[in-house]
Amino acid sequence: MTHPTVLILLGPPGAGKGTQARMLEEKFGLVQLSTGDLLRAAVAAGTKAGKAAKAVMEAGELVSDAIVLAILKDRLTEPDTAKGVILDGFPRTPGQAEALDALLAEQDLKISAAVSIEVDDAAMVERVSGRYTCGSCGEGYHDSFKQPVNAGTCDKCGSTEFKRRADDNAETVGARLTAYHAQTAPLIAYYETRGVLRTVDGMSAIETIAADLDAVVTQVSA
Ligand code: AP5
Ligand code: MG
Repeated sequence: MTHPTVLILLGPPGAGKGTQARMLEEKFGLVQLSTGDLLRAAVAAGTKAGKAAKAVMEAGELVSDAIVLAILKDRLTEPDTAKGVILDGFPRTPGQAEALDALLAEQDLKISAAVSIEVDDAAMVERVSGRYTCGSCGEGYHDSFKQPVNAGTCDKCGSTEFKRRADDNAETVGARLTAYHAQTAPLIAYYETRGVLRTVDGMSAIETIAADLDAVVTQVSA
């Protein structure tokens, strides 16, 4: 049996983690595990974890490792993850990276690649502020960079409902970028030391980055 792929997407807010993870899901049959999406679902459902996370997320800070790990572990036990996963926005602290290593070791799994999507901070505020998603299927769009083919209608599912995230404003993006550089960027060196780091140029066009990531996944899944 082929070993399940475990791909980590590292990058600041707006780097394109979610956009690329969804494209990789479709192409390789992997499952996107976005801790941001899981936390937003917990907030919307009003769970205990969601209540604890809400204000932290709105301030652009990181939710505690304990809450994030509990949510991620729950999701990892679901059977659809068997072929492999794309970790989008996790791990985000050295503590989460170590916990992930332990979790994977328990299941005799290992990280296939940790891809750092490299971007300029200055461009990220515009990317994040212009972002919106389909309210039904979650497909991502952007006011300037990625509009639906037929204005007002989702390309993927035909819904006409769209939404914007509560933390997608210039002020909160600044706090999120600060959290990324202080707590998450050190993971680039962590994965380089382990020999699994790859980098892609996140300032390229969405399709160019997708092709670069396809090449990484094809190589590590062989
Ligand atoms: P999370 O949901 O993970 O947000 P984030 O890391 O801030 O990243 P984004 O989702 O904003 O950006 P993205 O890289 O997915 O970009 P996207 O593809 O949408 O986390 C939110 C919050 O939850 C955190 O602040 C924290 O509080 C909490 N949290 C989550 N995980 C946590 C963890 N592990 N530990 C602790 N706390 C955690 O692209 C952005 C826009 O740009 C889109 O509109 C897209 O269409 C466009 N775009 C994408 N690529 C390109 C391109 N190449 N060129 C032009 N436009 C592009
Ligand atoms: Mg995202």
